[in-house]
Amino acid sequence: MFSSLCRTHAPRLNRMFVAKQTTCQTPEDQCKQKPKTAIVMLNMGGPQNIDQVGDYLLRIMTDRDMIQLPIQGKLGPWIASRRTEEVQKKYLEIGGGSPILKWTNSQGTLLTESLDRCLPETAPHKHYVAFRYVPPFTNDAFDELERDGVERAVIFSQYPQYSCATTGSSLNAIADFYRGRSIPKNIKFSMIDRWATHPLLAKVFAERIREKLLAFDDDVRDDVLILFTAHSLPLKAVSRGDTYPHEVAATVANTMIELNLKNPHRLVWQSKVGPLPWLQPYTDDAIKAYAKQGKRHIILVPIAFVNEHIETLHELDIEYCHDVAKEAGIVHIERASTPNAHPTFIQALTDIVATHLRCGPAVSKQFLTRCPHCVSQRCHSSKEFFKSLCSEVPCRDTYIPSIPTIVMTEPTKT
Ligand code: FES
Repeated sequence: MFSSLCRTHAPRLNRMFVAKQTTCQTPEDQCKQKPKTAIVMLNMGGPQNIDQVGDYLLRIMTDRDMIQLPIQGKLGPWIASRRTEEVQKKYLEIGGGSPILKWTNSQGTLLTESLDRCLPETAPHKHYVAFRYVPPFTNDAFDELERDGVERAVIFSQYPQYSCATTGSSLNAIADFYRGRSIPKNIKFSMIDRWATHPLLAKVFAERIREKLLAFDDDVRDDVLILFTAHSLPLKAVSRGDTYPHEVAATVANTMIELNLKNPHRLVWQSKVGPLPWLQPYTDDAIKAYAKQGKRHIILVPIAFVNEHIETLHELDIEYCHDVAKEAGIVHIERASTPNAHPTFIQALTDIVATHLRCGPAVSKQFLTRCPHCVSQRCHSSKEFFKSLCSEVPCRDTYIPSIPTIVMTEPTKT
């Protein structure tokens, strides 16, 4: 990991590594020490077992940041309970639970080990998982990092593309946690709210696509349709000005540039819930329509998920790649893996956090700017809260990114 992550700055980083060894010996020894820097990994989470499915759905359906229903207090619980059995069956078909906690912990462990090597002055780093709808919850993560007595906490969204419904909801949960209790004065907080255009994110998606292209016959490989698919969003949220659709499109464009192939591609949307109109075209409809147009060799690329969960393992693999594709007469369909613990992805996470720790803005102006048609008092208070929570820290110059970084936040301060 060290050699691949830091190869372009090996002499300098080798010096740092030696310096760290003097005091800390190995990453294992560091684990036993009190952590100095917390990396709080935000995500929605997924049920570990089918007993958690009911509560998971209930929390989603009653979260107005995620979904807005009429008479939500009554309709939300009713929908959750009506869907529980059907969703439990889906989890049973993928092995009985979501692997999202397993992948997030693997990513967190590899990321913090890598940071310990590259940034000894902020080490030891420790990751904390903060899920929105299943344990470990946001509150658990913040209770733990306060108990650990960290000096610095980086709130790191694991959604590369920002949406007020996903990252926004997780951040509101942090604001809720600190409502009515004092903010620890000894911790410096900062936030990474989006990273849709990081070059190494495009690189890992391109590598995942190349892996699957090899499965196609030579004579069709150049014509395989690359169908990028992301979780859809209600059109109401799009019209309000949510940045998610254009950030997803930016990741797609960067991935195609990185891939440097002439294959056709499109961006389509999956996982619509409820009767209201959502962003289209839907992934299953697109597969059927392309089959009719004679495009029968397809790779599905989940472009907004960084680890496997129900939407990839069930919706894409079982429902679309098997059932829908078979019915539509698709000749060959593959699904690209999510980044998971791919070394390039760990390198991406390391570069994003290390650059932020070195000299990132404590909170981005992009985050602090509300959607043009947002009228939510909750959004307003949340942004005010983070403006005061996240404090600037002096720039450090130890870490030098190995690639030009294009993150959709503030320009780096010098
Ligand atoms: Fe986007 Fe309020 S809905 S900032």
